[in-house]
Amino acid sequence: MTHNTSNNKVLVTGIQATGRPHIGNYFGTMKQIVELQHKGYENRVFVADYHSLVSVQDADTLSQSTLDLAIDYLAIGVDPKLVTIYKQSDVPEVTELTWIFNSITTMPYLMRAHAFKDAEAKNKEINVAKFEYPLLMAADILIHNAEIVPVGKDQKQHIEVARDTAEKFNRIFCKTETEGEEAGIFKMPEAYIVSDVETVPGIDGQKMSKSYGNHIPLFSEDEEIRKLVMSIVTDSGSVATDSSDPMAGIPSNVFNIHKLFIGNSDLINAGKTYLASLDSLKEFYRSTEGKYKPLKDALAEDLILFITPLRARRAEIAKNPDEIRQMLAQNGAIIREKVHHLVADIRKKVGFVV
Ligand code: ADP
Ligand code: TRP
Repeated sequence: MTHNTSNNKVLVTGIQATGRPHIGNYFGTMKQIVELQHKGYENRVFVADYHSLVSVQDADTLSQSTLDLAIDYLAIGVDPKLVTIYKQSDVPEVTELTWIFNSITTMPYLMRAHAFKDAEAKNKEINVAKFEYPLLMAADILIHNAEIVPVGKDQKQHIEVARDTAEKFNRIFCKTETEGEEAGIFKMPEAYIVSDVETVPGIDGQKMSKSYGNHIPLFSEDEEIRKLVMSIVTDSGSVATDSSDPMAGIPSNVFNIHKLFIGNSDLINAGKTYLASLDSLKEFYRSTEGKYKPLKDALAEDLILFITPLRARRAEIAKNPDEIRQMLAQNGAIIREKVHHLVADIRKKVGFVV
């Protein structure tokens, strides 16, 4: 039995409000929201402010970043008529669900999470919230009985945690009285990961991430873009490793960012015909005979062309922060109402109703 108040399948995803989004966030997940918003899902997208609190512990910074991220979503083309954009903390039931999940999850299971293992390997101090981050994320997803969760590849394991947790809850709490037959209330969510852009590289060739300081912010100014592109490390790789391949020796870091724009009709219409296909981009790269400067200049120019309208749109939307606040508050209430039935059912299943 499912509990969606609409007949549509639910799509849900969130991003932390931990700084300015970058082109890795955009190509890895934000763009997918725009592409999927017309596909008949009931779309719910949130700013993960509870998750952000793990690392952002300053009220003004967190609330400003939350508002900013809501503006960012709208600026990239998320249509508020098709997508309910809300703030995670406006649905406090997710923390109740997290507590329930805490109670059915073992420590060793969560200790296998990549984020925890990485932090431990680096001897970082880990707070309790960081440790149970995957369970809060499972609650974010399962509270909607979502079917599809667009994310970047690094979040795949978290979706698996959500699936395991759904399965465990169903197994423990959803047996029928007679046969012990399972009649789970949670559906199994599927990650939606676009393989071509699953890991967008940063200016150092590693995965682009705010926390590595190797990112190109999505709404950066022209000068910032030029500076960041010029600082792309060019000598660390080659597009092809096989020496007989014509792309051998062509620096891969610039190419791997440039190829994100293949097929972008705005850029092609603006005369960037080398972005029409992978082959034409390769041809363009080969034509420079591996000279970095013209390739970087071309990438910077293309990024500027791509980012300028986004930045303009963002500036326009940002003029009315109160409208955004109002939208978030309204949407928070809508989502709370939508998850109400499932939450009531969960409370009953675990024995909170006497
Ligand atoms: P960051 O690592 O910069 O802090 P987040 O953890 O906030 O990014 O990620 C937000 C979303 O963007 C997630 O769905 C994540 O998978 C995706 N994402 C982040 N970095 C990349 C990247 N370099 N390539 C593809 N997707 C990414
Ligand atoms: N953990 C995700 C990230 O770092 C953000 C997030 C929180 C999320 N809850 C989610 C993504 C639920 C998808 C679904 O980017």
